[in-house]
Amino acid sequence: MTTSVRLVEITGDNRDAVCALRVHPGQERFVASVAKSLEDAATTPEGEPWYRAVYVGDEPVGFVMLSWDVPPGRPGVLGPYYLWRLLVDGRYQGRGIGRAVLVEVVSLVRAVGGTELLTSHQPDDDGPGAFYRKFGFVPTGEIDDGEPVLRLDL
Ligand SMILES: CC(C)(COP(=O)(O)OP(=O)(O)OC[C@H]1O[C@@H](n2cnc3c(N)ncnc32)[C@H](O)[C@@H]1OP(=O)(O)O)[C@@H](O)C(=O)NCCC(=O)NCCS
Repeated sequence: MTTSVRLVEITGDNRDAVCALRVHPGQERFVASVAKSLEDAATTPEGEPWYRAVYVGDEPVGFVMLSWDVPPGRPGVLGPYYLWRLLVDGRYQGRGIGRAVLVEVVSLVRAVGGTELLTSHQPDDDGPGAFYRKFGFVPTGEIDDGEPVLRLDL
């Protein structure tokens, strides 16, 4: 299934709608809410946060946040390109949106010369690990903050 997504800046106009997005009950342990992510972005400038709302047509359906072009040597910050948060609202999951966001993000990182994209995830069997591995991410063997780290060569 191919789904067309747009990555849209978050402004005063769409902030409430994007913050209202929710994963399925039980998935909250895999990812922080949009509001918490925006707070983390504001309080963690050393993580070089870059984030967008995910839209299908005119409808906000998800959220993505990366560490973008982190200079080497920042303790505790994975990079230079690290997929920090990704969520698709429960009503829209399973339609290829998450995969389409990864395709967009990979294309943006490649366009600025990035050669790999890192991510990490909660290790639970029903978590998003299989989603990332299906896309091509491979475990690096590292554990960051209790989460296995995965790498995608670009
Ligand atoms: C993980 C998440 C982003 C995936 O988004 P999505 O739009 O539902 O995924 P897609 O429909 O694009 O799925 C792409 C493929 O991955 C598979 N997949 C998706 N989620 C999966 C999961 N949790 N386990 C195993 N496979 C999964 C799909 O079956 C699909 O497989 P296919 O190519 O054979 O059809 C979304 O389910 C989500 O927001 N989950 C809760 C929050 C979360 O865990 N975020 C990640 C934090 S690190």
